Amino acid sequence: MASNKFSVIAHRDHEICNPLNKGKLQSVLDRIPFESGGKVLDIGAGKCSVLMDLIDRHDVVGTAIEIERSFIEEAQRKAGQWIIDNQLEIVNEDAKKVIDGMDELYDVSICLGATHALGNYKVTLERMSEVVKPGGYLLVGEGYWKRKPDAAYLEALGAEEGELFSHQENIQVGEDLGLVPMWASVANEDEWDDYEWLYSRSIEMYCLENPDDPDVNAMRDRIRKWRSSYLRWGRNTLGFGLYLFYNTGGK
Ligand SMILES: C[S@@+](CC[C@H](N)C(=O)[O-])C[C@H]1O[C@@H](n2cnc3c(N)ncnc32)[C@H](O)[C@@H]1O
Repeated sequence: MASNKFSVIAHRDHEICNPLNKGKLQSVLDRIPFESGGKVLDIGAGKCSVLMDLIDRHDVVGTAIEIERSFIEEAQRKAGQWIIDNQLEIVNEDAKKVIDGMDELYDVSICLGATHALGNYKVTLERMSEVVKPGGYLLVGEGYWKRKPDAAYLEALGAEEGELFSHQENIQVGEDLGLVPMWASVANEDEWDDYEWLYSRSIEMYCLENPDDPDVNAMRDRIRKWRSSYLRWGRNTLGFGLYLFYNTGGK
């Protein structure tokens, strides 16, 4: 199976590929003083729905970095040509490469559920603070442990405990880098259930609709193991937080 096939199908019905309710995300975004013409960077932007919403509501100019071609094509279809020509630049590249060669500064940088694109959460905050103007904002969506994860859950995820911090530590990491925490909010159980059931329903539906696809058995097996892990451990162990930081620029 192509490496991105499962994830693209699992997210086919998600507008935001994270356990975030749009209203909650919006209420945190509302803490940022966006200005018309302000420059906003979204790293691992997915379907670019966050940037499109900000363009619509605040008339900002957005740059999206996203590696998955099919997400970009969906974003281009939704945005329409005028927005693509004037207000939304989409860079279809590895975020690490793009950030390394970046000499532009942004008013706001966003990275929701995509810190792996730059390495990890701490590295992402560091790199984002380098491309955000002093006085600008960083908004990061990141997982956290609600409690110590069971070894069996880590094995099921193929993850290590050290890959995530606690909610408090996620804020502390930013403070230790000299960023000022301005807001934080976490996904609740309803948001997680919506995200996970949409994810697993998309795979189950795809398998029913495409019985001749040679990957169907592997996909069913994978989603059923995933769902079981979510129900058994994920709901009480894995959290997702939104962290808003102000960049003092070292002052
Ligand atoms: C969990 S999704 C989140 C998408 C989006 N931020 C959202 O909230 O809807 C993670 C995204 O990061 C993208 N991504 C992963 N690695 C990347 C990389 N090295 N460079 C750019 N994008 C990457 C994936 O293709 C995916 O769209």
